[in-house]
Parts: sequence; C-alpha cells; structure tokens
Amino acid sequence: MREASVNLVTVGVFSWARLEPEPGRYEFGWLDRVLDLLADNGIFADLATATASPPPWLARRNPDSLPVDREGVRLWPGARQHYCPSNKSYRAAATALVEQLATRYCDHRALAMWHVNNEYGCHVAACYCDRSAEHFRAWLRSRYASLAALNEAWGTAFWSQQYGDWDEIVPPRPAPTWRNPSQELDWHRFCSDVLLELFVMERELLERLSSGVPITTNFMRFFKPCDYWKWAEHVDFTADDLYPDPSDAATGARERASAADLMRSLKGGAPWAVMEQAPNAVNWRQRNVPKHPGLMRLGSYQSLARGADGIMFFQWRASKAGAEKFHSGMVPHTGTATRTWREVVELGTELARLDAVVGTRVSADVAFVFDWESRWALELPSKPSHDVTLMDQVAHWYRPLWERNVMVDFVHPEGDLSSYRLVIVPNLYLVTDAAAANVARFVSGGGVFVLSFFSGIVDEREHVRLGGYPAPFRELLGIVVPELWPHGDDELRHVRLGGERYACELWSDWIELEGAEAVATFEDGWLSGRPAVTRNGSAWYVGTRLDSAGMDELVGKLLAQSGVAPTLAAPAGVEAVRRDGDGRSFLFLLNHGAQEATVDIDGDYRDLLTDGERASQLTIEPFGVAVLEAMLRVR
Ligand code: GAL
Repeated sequence: MREASVNLVTVGVFSWARLEPEPGRYEFGWLDRVLDLLADNGIFADLATATASPPPWLARRNPDSLPVDREGVRLWPGARQHYCPSNKSYRAAATALVEQLATRYCDHRALAMWHVNNEYGCHVAACYCDRSAEHFRAWLRSRYASLAALNEAWGTAFWSQQYGDWDEIVPPRPAPTWRNPSQELDWHRFCSDVLLELFVMERELLERLSSGVPITTNFMRFFKPCDYWKWAEHVDFTADDLYPDPSDAATGARERASAADLMRSLKGGAPWAVMEQAPNAVNWRQRNVPKHPGLMRLGSYQSLARGADGIMFFQWRASKAGAEKFHSGMVPHTGTATRTWREVVELGTELARLDAVVGTRVSADVAFVFDWESRWALELPSKPSHDVTLMDQVAHWYRPLWERNVMVDFVHPEGDLSSYRLVIVPNLYLVTDAAAANVARFVSGGGVFVLSFFSGIVDEREHVRLGGYPAPFRELLGIVVPELWPHGDDELRHVRLGGERYACELWSDWIELEGAEAVATFEDGWLSGRPAVTRNGSAWYVGTRLDSAGMDELVGKLLAQSGVAPTLAAPAGVEAVRRDGDGRSFLFLLNHGAQEATVDIDGDYRDLLTDGERASQLTIEPFGVAVLEAMLRVR
C-alpha cells in the first residue's frame, strides 16, 4: 500500500460474521491488528459498520429478518444484503454491532471516517413482507393523517379501491393488472425513506459515540430506488461507486462525467469521493471487458476534474474464493508484476502531487433539473409510451453539453436556480406547485429555460394537472399540447430546424401556439407543419426527441441565447474542466481519443504531473491527461 501511495482504506464492509461469530460474542482482535498496521504505516481507515451482510445466525434465529420480493419469494442467506429494512431484529442486531465498533474504535489513530452499511438498496431495494406492510401503513398514516386524505390522494374512487381501514392497505404486491399508480409512487417514496431510516439509525449512534468523525455511505450514481436529494442531507460528504462499462468507453466517459456532476451537486458543489471503482475488469456483467491501458487513470482524473477529492478502488486484493474472485483488485491474482499494479502505483504517485487541488470547486452556468419522484412516476406502467425513461432523456441532453465542454450541475426542481444562465429540464413528468413557481421565477429573472416533452403532466399525487399540457408551464411557454403523439415501434419522423432537416423519434406532441414562435416544425405525417420546438422569449419547449445532430443544433441555439461559453475550445474528444479555489485555478485536460490531441492555451502554466512549464500549446497522448495550474487566459 505504501508503494502505491495508498492513504485511505475501506475496512470491514462485509465482516459482520467475523466480528460477531455468534450473537453477542465479538472478535475484534483481527481488526485491531489491521487498524494498527494501517496507522503504523500512515494510512487511514474508512471504517465500515459492517451491517450490509448479516451473519447466517441472524436468519436462523429470526427468519423474519429475511427480505421478501414482490412475488412473495423469501431471499435466503448465502449472498449478501439479505435483510428486511423494517425488521426489528435486524435493526437491533445492527445497532448492537455499531455500538461495539464505535465504542471500540472512536479514538483509533487510523480512523478517518465511518462507512455506513454499503450501497443501500443495491440488491434489495424493497421488501414486501408483512412487517414491511405494517411499516408502510405507519408511513402512510404520518403522510396523510386520515384515510379520507389517502383515498383522495390515491384516487381510490377508480376501480372500487376505496380503503375503509388502514389494515386493508398492503404494499404493491402482484395484482391482476396495473396497480394504483399513486400507491406505487408512495411505495417508492417509502422504500427510499426506509433505507434512509436505517442509515440515520446508524448515523445517530456514530454521532453520539464517535463524535466529530465524518460519516458517509456509498451512493450509486443515479440509482433509481434512492432519492439521493433526501439522502445527501444526512451524509457529511457524498461518495460514489463508479463502474462504467469499459466495452463502451465513450458512453462510459459521459456516464462517469454526469455521475460526478450529480455527486457534486447533491451537496451544493462540495468535493466528493470516488468510493469504489474497478482497477480493471468487474465480474458481474455478461461479458467483463478489461479496462485498456490508461483507461483507469483517465477515469480517475475525470472524477477529480469534476470535483472529487479522493479516488478509491474496489478492491485491494483480488480474492481467491467467493462470488467476486474474478473482479479485479489493485493487487491481481498474479501479484505485483502486472500492468494493473503498475498503473495503480503510477496513479498513486501522481495523485500525491495534486494536494493543491483538494478543496477546490467546479462551477457551472447550466443546470439540469433532476428529480427522483418524477422519475418514479414517469416510469410507472400504463403511460402513453413505455419507452420514455428519464435516464435516457438525461443522457440525450447531457451529451451535447459534455462534448462542448460546457459544465453542468444537477438541481432539485425546487432548488436554487439563481446562479445559472440556462436551465434544462428533461421530462419533468411530475411537478409540484413549488417547482413550477421556482422555474417561473428563474425565467422572469431572465434565465433561459428549456423543457422537454411529457413534462408538467401530474402533481405529487400522480393526478393529472388539468387544463392542457403542460398545465403549470403553459403560460410561461406560450403553448398548449392538447394531444400526445408517441411514435410506434422504431418510427422516425422529421423536423425542420434552422433550415436543416433532422430525424426525431420516440415521441411527438401536437403543439398549439399561444404566443410562442415555432423554432422547428414537423415535416411528415399528421403533424406536418405543426410546431415541434417552440420559444417564448427565453422559455423553450421541445416536443420530440431530436436525433443527435438536431440536439447539437438546438443546444447551440440555447447556449447562444444564454451566453454560456465552454470551459475551453478543445479538439473533439478532449474534455476540459476547471477547478478553482483559494486564488488558484486548475485546468484538467482529458483526451478520450485514441489519437494524440493538441490543445491551444494562452498564457503560462505549470503542468502538475510533469512539473514542466509550458505555453500556448500542449499535446496530450491518447487517453492521456494533463493537470495545469496557472492564471490562465484561455484562447
Ligand atoms: C459494489 C459493491 C462492492 C463490490 C463491487 C463489485 O457494488 O459495493 O462490494 O461488490 O460492487 O463491482
């Protein structure tokens, strides 16, 4: 670890059975030795609370602690995460373990932070057992107070679903056909809240017994089951697990970039940490393609560039047994005479040169509005088109900005938009009154706003907002959409935008102008001649999914109107991101291409990785990176 300049190690994530081989009998000797050894070598510990995989004895003593899936199948021990989040014996046993760990290690020299549980919800995001049903009812009582309010919110007049007693309510278990969507939406909220309740349960213990030590857990990018806007309020900093597929490096790079932007945004721009990434291949895809030389380094720098202050890996040593034995480790099965090890050591050596970057921040002029509740609602069944999914739309809008080196943040629909010039809202199907007012305030302040199709359709109860889609934005946009025209299988239509013809897919809206102008019009079929993209001052509406070239054209117009400039006019495939702070400025250049790239830069700068002084031009090797510090004037 010293050779690789490792200075922080996650310890004990899946060690519950080792730490407590039988109920109430703890064995800490081995962990004492590990932590002492780390401390003696100047390495800190991200000490796990080990509650993510209960020991087999818990299930044997308390079979009810096992989770039950939607079909009613109990999930048994033998893998991991086999606990029902609402189960009282799981909670009691986890509490006892965390108390022991916190009491024993709160003052340990190695302790730098607490790693609570692990990837909440990764395998079991919802439990449908009777105890969970009871817990769901309690959650609903506190949300609605009365059955009458719940019946109203869930629209139970439809299909004779009216509840006369709280005990009649169950989780959305299998049913003859579509479940009540408001019930499903509340179930999503409940499941995210219940997992968060577990995190808070541990957090409160740690705060009491080990005060002052930062506490976090590892998030999973845009993981659907957990509303990380809510979760982020309870972690001291965000940490992410990143496993883009190396077999599609271009998509992987964009995914990695957007995940970083989310992690930063969840905590108002504060630095975050990569808690896990693979040194090389993973084991859990159908085909596990390795990371080619340079790719792990490039990805690591990408996260750093976009606001991370730490880069960690899963895992230190590739294991010889167990389900993850073909997952790469920093120390591979072959040992240290390997490319993986060499790349790990090189990265560690380089990172040691970048202390000045720590704590600096990234700023963005463009915000993406992103909301878990809206995503849950959008992706429930029984919709005009099942092909509309939020992450597809986010990725579709993200690409043209990423390729132009325009930095973006993510913002909650009710979050502060005042510092942005351009706000992009892909598919905000569910919108609260507060969110609609938030957007209106932004637009009246002169901001450029763009909304994509099938937005503003329902309120937080999943009730349609009447009066013409997208009702809460109708006036702002100067349009009404009386009809939705989703496409059939693979059906392409066309639009004319800026004198060019572009294909569009997935969805079209029948748009009527009420003050807005048509920026693009449909070219074929029944919608021919009707508006496809509209503009009402600085409020834009996009009633279809344009192809990539169309998106490039449209995004160009939006950037021009909002006056947003890229970080740097770099050649295609070169990502440029700036981090600033304390009067210092760092420019990260990342070459995602397989060819050398030459970047023009004005001014003098110091290359932190090579220590070279450079001016005006820099050549970056294929998949290479540069971190430049200067008071740059960029051409
Ligand atoms: C994560 C998990 C790790 C390991 C890794 C493999 O989901 O936290 O324990 O399983 O994936 O890629």
